[in-house]
Amino acid sequence: MLRKRMISWQPLIAIGVTMFIVGCPTITTPPDDPCAGVDCTDGETCVDGVCVAAPVDTTDPVEFTNADGIKGGALYDKFYDTPDFDKNTDDAAQIMAFGDFFRCKQCHAWDHLGNMASYIDRAPKTTRPNVTAINLAEHAMDESAQELFDAIKTGNGGRRSVSADLSTYDPADPTTTAVGDQMPNFGEILTDAQIWDLVKYLKEDFLDTTQLYDIDITGTYPDGTRTFSNIGKDGDPVNGDALYAAKCAGCHGADGLLILFDNGELSIGSFARTKPYELSHKSKFGQPGSAMGPQGINTIEDMKDLFAALVDSTNFPDPAPAP
Ligand code: HEC
Ligand code: HEC
Repeated sequence: MLRKRMISWQPLIAIGVTMFIVGCPTITTPPDDPCAGVDCTDGETCVDGVCVAAPVDTTDPVEFTNADGIKGGALYDKFYDTPDFDKNTDDAAQIMAFGDFFRCKQCHAWDHLGNMASYIDRAPKTTRPNVTAINLAEHAMDESAQELFDAIKTGNGGRRSVSADLSTYDPADPTTTAVGDQMPNFGEILTDAQIWDLVKYLKEDFLDTTQLYDIDITGTYPDGTRTFSNIGKDGDPVNGDALYAAKCAGCHGADGLLILFDNGELSIGSFARTKPYELSHKSKFGQPGSAMGPQGINTIEDMKDLFAALVDSTNFPDPAPAP
């Protein structure tokens, strides 16, 4: 009996001691501000004694919200052939004389993947610069609308002025490629509204070609090769045929042979099979300077369907070989 009673007292004593110890500091020490004396760097703020990135304002500028990404896509292709571009200036004359040094698509490629994909074999010439190594699709995803606007309008230094001499550009001469390959200073060339249209296109309207086909690349720029397969992926050719009949056949003919490209070497069908990256762009944004405006193929789903139809070389044959 006696032993049992002694044992049963021990937990109560232990609880009492614990309460005394735990209770003590809260009574004697007032709670400190955990951020007192914490010195955070610029762009950081103190939370519970730890420096963390300050919350950023993620609201897009109203200019971005109101911008037109379809116009932006045409600007990306060939801004100096779009209706809003004033061709009657000295700058315009220089730009049109050296067009490929100014077209976004020349340096960044239609697929936004620079010299790593469809343009892995597009070597520079005296009339066109190198394709860049940067991945514009990634930049467009990672940067805010405002950051992209600033990058296009002014950049972080290192932009080429319109007045730079491009007449001596020679791919073998690094002093000329250092200038010619540089991104132009678009603050001198485009209006703010046009730059916002470009940003809208980059962030929201660009058709991501990795969802439209598979590409196999070998080697490195500019001597690499690329092969396209699985064009249209799981698209529905029946809907694609209907889209083609409604939106393309009137001009290009039911079999895509009415207008031929590249000196008669390409029909709509063979264009789709060899330059899918460009056909998808033009189906959505049109071909600046021609009768072909934006055709309303706006979603990845519609574009996959159209491709699934156009890869059929019986319905959309290659042009007849020259006699
Ligand atoms: C002559 C080649 C050339 C042309 C034309 C060109 N770029 Fe660039 N661009 C570059 C190079 C090189 C870089 C990477 C170095 C830099 O930022 O200057 C770049 C970088 C960029 C970046 C990323 C900058 C950043 O730091 O976020 C954006 C966005 C961009 N270009 C958009 C465009 C758009 C839009 C056009 C057409 C209006 C265009 N570029 C035309 C060469 C070009
Ligand atoms: C209003 C008539 C019209 C319609 C509709 C039209 N196109 Fe075109 N398309 C043209 C003309 C004109 C050209 C320019 C030909 C040239 O520059 O030699 C062209 C050019 C193209 C090119 C570019 C060829 C190149 O060499 O750069 C592609 C690709 C193309 N069209 C595909 C299509 C597709 C796909 C559709 C339907 C979604 C379509 N077009 C609807 C008239 C049209």
